[in-house]
Amino acid sequence: MRPQLDSTKASRPARNRSRSGLADARPVSAASLVTAALRANQHALGRLSAMPVSLDWSSEMDELVSRIGFHTIPRWHFPMLNDRRRNEAFATAIERQVSPGSHVLDIGSGAGLLAMIAARAGAGRVTTCETNPLLAEIARQVIAVNDLSEVITVVPKASTELRVGHDLPRRADLIVSEIVDCGLVGEGLLPTMRHGREHLLAPGGTLLPRSARLFGFLIESDVVSGQNRVTSAAGFDLRLLNMVATKGHYPIRLQTWPHKVLSSTAELAGFDLAVDRLDDGQRPVTLPVVCCGIAHALAVWFELDIGTGVRLRTLPQAPESHWMQALVPLPAPRPVAAGDEIAVDFGWRSERLFVC
Ligand SMILES: C[S@@+](CC[C@H](N)C(=O)[O-])C[C@H]1O[C@@H](n2cnc3c(N)ncnc32)[C@H](O)[C@@H]1O
Repeated sequence: MRPQLDSTKASRPARNRSRSGLADARPVSAASLVTAALRANQHALGRLSAMPVSLDWSSEMDELVSRIGFHTIPRWHFPMLNDRRRNEAFATAIERQVSPGSHVLDIGSGAGLLAMIAARAGAGRVTTCETNPLLAEIARQVIAVNDLSEVITVVPKASTELRVGHDLPRRADLIVSEIVDCGLVGEGLLPTMRHGREHLLAPGGTLLPRSARLFGFLIESDVVSGQNRVTSAAGFDLRLLNMVATKGHYPIRLQTWPHKVLSSTAELAGFDLAVDRLDDGQRPVTLPVVCCGIAHALAVWFELDIGTGVRLRTLPQAPESHWMQALVPLPAPRPVAAGDEIAVDFGWRSERLFVC
């Protein structure tokens, strides 16, 4: 989950409404909502499978692949692959950590970029796995176009389904993975790295990235809150829609929205991927308030240590990064005054950040 909310709407001015004093409404009929959600999913699948398939490449096949790709492959793959700062940081870190002839496992192939960087850096064997079968096939073909098929094997599976001796020849000397969203944990980084180090990494092997930290500050912004909440419009009560609002963090390009920073920056969490338990968790955090206002949310970014001194940061002042900041809503808007110390519990669970 990188920019999961429609990033094409990121610069559209939202309405400035106060949400204070209104609790979210309950569903009128939970069962009929669940049935409708299942039907919507079935309808999308039916439309795709009804498309004609022929053996020769044709405009219909082009259309089919394009449509399925649109529905199953997030658009952020394009800006991610065009993020030169990200690519160069990973290339430098991988080149410094691949030993000649070693076995590298790349978790999350995407288009195959990190696997190809590892092969070019001198790995003897690279195994790369990808959960999305269409992306895995694209990666296989990209790797062939770049003449690296003899070194790299693409396995169309989740890393947690890999079997050593079957999908990969032996445990890996180096595990490389960039499954990091704007909130760090949203693509399953923590459980995936824990599984990788326990089941797929050779004794004494290296994980890339090594560690990560989350930072954030309190902000006031009705507009930013309104990216994921609604109360009323044209005199009608619309709060029921909030049942499908994102429950945890969501991406926001902070610099593009009106907001007021209310606190100084605090370190919210830190993870050593090689040794920490990497379970769900939460911890108390104190935020020193520097400015009066109504706190709506925490604006959060990460620092990723990818080894040998190479770090990536997604600060609001780094707008060239394809990663946005993560917006973590407070349970309710909260008035704060300069000099206050605001205590919150900051948590990470099931691929989302939250505050309680
Ligand atoms: C952010 S992309 C990175 C792609 C590529 N490694 C790069 O850096 O350009 C992460 C990819 O990993 C895949 N993925 C996430 N978790 C995975 C897992 N546990 N096993 C295999 N693939 C995974 C996603 O489907 C996605 O295509």
